[in-house]
Amino acid sequence: MKKFKIYRWNPEIPSDKPQMREYNVNLNECGGMVLDALIKIKDEMDSSLTFRKSCREGICGSCAMNIGGVNTLACITSIGGNLKKPLKIYPLPHMYVIKDLVTDMQGFFSQYKSIQPWLQRKNEKSVGSEQLLQSIKDHKQLDGLYECILCACCSTSCPSYWWNGDKYLGPAVLMQAYRWIIDSRDEAATERLAKLRDPYSVFRCHLILNCTKTCPKGLNPGKAIAELKKLLAGMSKKKAPDMNN
Ligand code: SF4
Ligand code: SF4
Ligand code: FES
Repeated sequence: MKKFKIYRWNPEIPSDKPQMREYNVNLNECGGMVLDALIKIKDEMDSSLTFRKSCREGICGSCAMNIGGVNTLACITSIGGNLKKPLKIYPLPHMYVIKDLVTDMQGFFSQYKSIQPWLQRKNEKSVGSEQLLQSIKDHKQLDGLYECILCACCSTSCPSYWWNGDKYLGPAVLMQAYRWIIDSRDEAATERLAKLRDPYSVFRCHLILNCTKTCPKGLNPGKAIAELKKLLAGMSKKKAPDMNN
C-alpha cells in the first residue's frame, strides 16, 4: 500500500479550508504513474477529488501539478517503489486554485496570447495562400522551442513569476516569444521585440534556472530567455533567412 497526501480545497464552499487528505492505494492494482493513482482514487475512493487530465502521455500539459516538491506532469511521473514515504501532491504553486489540483490558467494563457504566437508577414496575404519555404538549417533553430506543451510547470516554479506574475511574462511564454522572433519565415521580429522592451516583461528573469530544471519535456526556457535578452540588448541580431519567399 502506498500513502498519497493530496491537497484538497473547494474555494466555492465558504466553510471549506485547504487541507491535505490521505488515501492508501494498493500498487498491485494500479498503473505505475501518479495519474493512474489519482484516477483510481477518484474512481474507487473519493469521486470529489478534482484534477485535470487528457492525453495521459505527456502531450497535452493538462495534468501539471506539484508532485513530491517538483512541478511536473502526473501522467509521466512514476509513483516509485518507496512505500514508507507518503507522496505529497499539490496544485501548481502560486496559482489561484479553482478546486483541489485544478488551477486558474487564464492569466497564463492571456500572457501567451499577448505575444501573438502566430506567423506574421508584411504581406499578410502570403500566410495560408502559398507555401513559405524554410531551410533545414533555419528550421533547426526552432528545435527545443516548438515542442513546449504549455504546461506552465516552468513559469510556476519561477520565483520572479511568483512575485511579478502580472507583469513578468515568465519562462514558458518568453520561450514562445523567442520561438516566433527567430522563425526565418516571420517578418515581425522588430515589432515583437519592441513590445517586450520594458523593465518587467523579460528583464525580471534573473537566470536562476528553476524553469529549465523542472521542465518535464527536457526543454531549456532559461537559455531561450538569455538569447532573447541578447536580442533586446542589441548584443545579437536575428540572422537573415537562408531562403527568401
Ligand atoms: S531563469 Fe528566469 S525564468 Fe527561469 S526560473 Fe529563473 S528567473 Fe525564472
Ligand atoms: S517549457 Fe517545459 S515546463 Fe515550460 S511550459 Fe513548456 S513544456 Fe512546460
Ligand atoms: S494528461 Fe496530458 S500531459 Fe498528462
